[in-house]
Amino acid sequence: MSDTFEPTNIIVTGGCGFIGSNFVHHVVNNHPGTHVTVLDKLTYAGNPENIAGLPEDRVELVVGDVCDEALLDRLVPGHDAIVHFAAESHNDNSIADPEPFVRTNVYGTYRLLEACRKFDVRCHHVSTDEVYGDLALDDPARFTEETPYRPSSPYSSTKASSDMLVRAWHRTYGVRATISNCSNNYGPYQHVEKFIPRQVTNVLCGTRPKLYGDGRNVRDWIHTEDHSSAVWAVLTRGRVGETYLIGADGERSNIDVLRAILTAMGRPEDAFDWVRDRPGHDRRYAIDPTKLRTELGWRPRHTDFAEGLAATIEWYRENEAWWRPAKEATEAKYAAQGQ
Ligand code: NAD
Ligand code: TYD
Repeated sequence: MSDTFEPTNIIVTGGCGFIGSNFVHHVVNNHPGTHVTVLDKLTYAGNPENIAGLPEDRVELVVGDVCDEALLDRLVPGHDAIVHFAAESHNDNSIADPEPFVRTNVYGTYRLLEACRKFDVRCHHVSTDEVYGDLALDDPARFTEETPYRPSSPYSSTKASSDMLVRAWHRTYGVRATISNCSNNYGPYQHVEKFIPRQVTNVLCGTRPKLYGDGRNVRDWIHTEDHSSAVWAVLTRGRVGETYLIGADGERSNIDVLRAILTAMGRPEDAFDWVRDRPGHDRRYAIDPTKLRTELGWRPRHTDFAEGLAATIEWYRENEAWWRPAKEATEAKYAAQGQ
């Protein structure tokens, strides 16, 4: 393990999105010596409400684009680390229109790496297990740090590209970078386009949930709070130049998750519609988190999925004002795609 790095002034890109904003809350609540500058473009997925109410002396929001070189030249000096969450993050959107994914995920990461190089700033890059492609349902294997990259979608291929840039900037220019690849997150502040919030808010709206394909695709669910503690562990104690996979042994089929939502919300288990499958739909993701656990001693805290799901459902029930404005447009987009 390398010496502990104690960042006092970090930039969190994408800190008004789902996972980034949960990370900002995590830092404010657990690491009192760290100030956070959120850099966020406030795309359709970014909402300043996600970090509203946090102390002004701990968190500052800068609205801007990670692709903006002049902005980075002004902003980055004086910070000791960048934690890079900003991305276009939804597979279905990437299939409909890949261009913003190439721009933000690839070019945006390039610009951040150049800023880290220029100002000698530590960089942690937040990535996804989707860079490894998918596994068969009956494959005993899980993804490890050694699994070859084999991305399937425009989204995952741009994330894979960004990971490659980070590795090259570390090796060639000595940028002090780490990468983490995490499995599917759930929890508060997730956009209603994603699987769990879409189904929960459908039920709350009196609409039937929508399941793709045969519903047997498997995702490895982790609570976003556990993702945050893992990112902090890698940022502060991870070895520079290394990649760490983040997962919490949460493999579940989509149909099982949907039935759990329906049951928890008092609906019959079959009260949903089958819809058109996603083109190129990855079958199964599964993370082997051994390196993170053994090297950094990290452990997830939210190990009871039913409990985490119930709390998440409750959050959407109590925060309709947060999700309602995005719901109609999101469903209109899905309807146009036959989903
Ligand atoms: P999100 O779509 O909810 O949030 C993305 C945020 O980035 C938004 O606030 C958006 O405004 C901002 N953003 C987009 N383009 C930008 C740009 N050009 N400049 C500045 N800000 C910009 O995404 P999320 O689900 O919170 O994912 C965050 C990160 O975690 C992504 O890098 C994603 O690949 C990764 N990840 C997500 C999951 C998951 O389950 N959602 C799992 C593993 C890894
Ligand atoms: P999603 O939340 O989009 O995450 P990812 O594509 O990164 O895994 O989808 C999770 C799973 O749920 C994925 O297998 C696709 C499926 N899905 C549905 O069955 N219905 C839906 O309405 C959505 C949005 C996703």
